Amino acid sequence: RDGEVELDAAVMDGATLDAGAVAAVKGFLPVSRIARRVMEKTPHLLLAGEGAAAFARAEGFLPQDLRTEASLARWRKWKAENGPPPPDSHDTVGVLGWHRGHAFAVCTTSGTAWKYPGRVGDSPILGAGLYADDEAGAAVATGRGEEIWRFAFSLRAVEAMRRGTTAKAACEEAVRRLLQRRPKAA
Ligand code: GLY
Repeated sequence: RDGEVELDAAVMDGATLDAGAVAAVKGFLPVSRIARRVMEKTPHLLLAGEGAAAFARAEGFLPQDLRTEASLARWRKWKAENGPPPPDSHDTVGVLGWHRGHAFAVCTTSGTAWKYPGRVGDSPILGAGLYADDEAGAAVATGRGEEIWRFAFSLRAVEAMRRGTTAKAACEEAVRRLLQRRPKAA
């Protein structure tokens, strides 16, 4: 359908390294809860597209139209003008939690606006959009998913913390590597 929204989400438990994710799933909310069911009820890490939607339906999530009048109008205008996608239009929610001595991470997003159908960003990918390990720390990322994923930002930050780096310095180290290696991507 016109202007359809595809969502990505993942959860990770730092105690066990258990995780679950969904990608490019249409018509269900909240996708972080569906990701959690993937973790709890399947032997897999990631379900995508139609398979993720079928799983959500089987788990009792109700299908809904996530488009709004405003989002549909914006999409139709962009389609009619046939212009380039606006740069860096993305929106991600990341949560890091600490519960009873254990770290967990959640990352959820509609990805980048005007993306190709089926495009999956960093958010549902362990090590890219999120990572949690009680023995080192936890991280979530927001920004341009292709760059975050390319550099495995969240795992990179957690591994830096494992070496004793502070959280702030661990994030700066990941960004510094991006700027050194792909200065034009900044
Ligand atoms: N960081 C969100 C995305 O690019 O999908």
